[in-house]
Amino acid sequence: MNAFYNTCRHRASRICEANAGNTKSFVCPYHGWVYNLDGSLHAAREMDARESFGHADYGLKSPQLTVFHGLIFINCDEGADSFEPELAIVESPLGMLCMRVT
Ligand code: FES
Repeated sequence: MNAFYNTCRHRASRICEANAGNTKSFVCPYHGWVYNLDGSLHAAREMDARESFGHADYGLKSPQLTVFHGLIFINCDEGADSFEPELAIVESPLGMLCMRVT
């Protein structure tokens, strides 16, 4: 499972306008940069010709993401500690109440 900020790495345009749905890639509506579903940059129109341009440096940024019994927790604080230790504390009391999603 992936989560990404909906912000283009070129000029910070909003990439995805849809509230729900499926896609094979994300295409920024502003200048057409294309991102793969794993967040990596697939194509950057007019930047691809520049030798110094590295696609690996311009993938979509991701927040911290944790899935706990089917619940998805996203933390946008890049400096925050992992949420995993906190979930381990509530695993036993809450785990029996939550559905298992595999
Ligand atoms: S702002 Fe997204 S391609 Fe330019």
